Amino acid sequence: MTGFYGTGIKRVKTGRWEGAFLPAEIKNNTPPRALVTGAAGGLGREVAVQIAARGCAVAITDINAEGIAETARLVRTQSAEVEEIVGDFTLEGAPEAAVQRVVDRWGGIDILVNNAGYGVIEPFLDSTYKSWTRTLALNVTALAMACKAAGRVMRDQRSGRIVNITSPGSRMALPDYTAYTASKAGVDSITRAASVALAPYGVLVNSLAPGMMDTEMQRSTEADLARVNGRNDLQDFLDERTKRIPLGRRAEISEVAEAVVWLALDAPKYMTAERLNMSGGLDKD
Ligand SMILES: NC(=O)c1ccc[n+]([C@@H]2O[C@H](COP(=O)([O-])OP(=O)(O)OC[C@H]3O[C@@H](n4cnc5c(N)ncnc54)[C@H](O)[C@@H]3O)[C@@H](O)[C@H]2O)c1
Repeated sequence: MTGFYGTGIKRVKTGRWEGAFLPAEIKNNTPPRALVTGAAGGLGREVAVQIAARGCAVAITDINAEGIAETARLVRTQSAEVEEIVGDFTLEGAPEAAVQRVVDRWGGIDILVNNAGYGVIEPFLDSTYKSWTRTLALNVTALAMACKAAGRVMRDQRSGRIVNITSPGSRMALPDYTAYTASKAGVDSITRAASVALAPYGVLVNSLAPGMMDTEMQRSTEADLARVNGRNDLQDFLDERTKRIPLGRRAEISEVAEAVVWLALDAPKYMTAERLNMSGGLDKD
């Protein structure tokens, strides 16, 4: 392969693996094994398909069974092996069980992409216990447990990469979206802690903050945001928000996924505890 992925791992014509990311299993000529959460659609689906296109074996998990079946179909079109895991990731033990499924099937785990996310628009002064706990259960607790479970396997392997999906919102004051922004600040905190915990074993933990993409989550979030702010003309509201982006447009899901895949497969081995912004210049910190 050439271009964007040119410096990274690639499968050469002989069927062997070579490149910057060479855990023992790849040296033995088996593909890297990845787990992508929240893979029933949106960014997670695109990441799963792009990782599969790079020749990895991909486990995909989500609460949405139909979406997972469709993602699995797309992954198979890349001639990659796929493991479908349907269930609520917030249940106690679910993240650990998903990691174990990957280990049971392929003998280890090389990549974890913590992409599953949930958020609800709710003015802070009206916010409810229910939405806080639901948001934190997925975005923080389940993500932490997935990092822990995969991190333990990667520690023993002495290799692996974790990519956590955060948000520009984690560093912003958004009074209509506080549980979500607080949860993504939690993602940043977990990324820092996990990167230090796993650095002695050569395991890399980074995060990526996507800007506004056209996904199911973003569409419903912005419609709700327009509603709570009394904005009846949704298109006008969306256009106004797009104009705030220095690059002047919203992100393609595929280009954000390319950056996730870069962190998961190609980023230099000295890069850990980093946060990569893919917000078209919106988040400049
Ligand atoms: N869309 C954006 O503009 C944007 C911006 C910044 C950050 N993000 C982040 O990117 C990630 C992907 O978001 P997306 O826009 O593709 O959203 P999405 O809604 O399309 O994907 C999120 C997935 O998580 C799954 N999920 C929700 N609750 C679950 C649960 N309890 N158990 C298992 N799976 C569950 C959903 O079914 C869904 O498939 C999220 O972490 C989100 O916070 C998105």
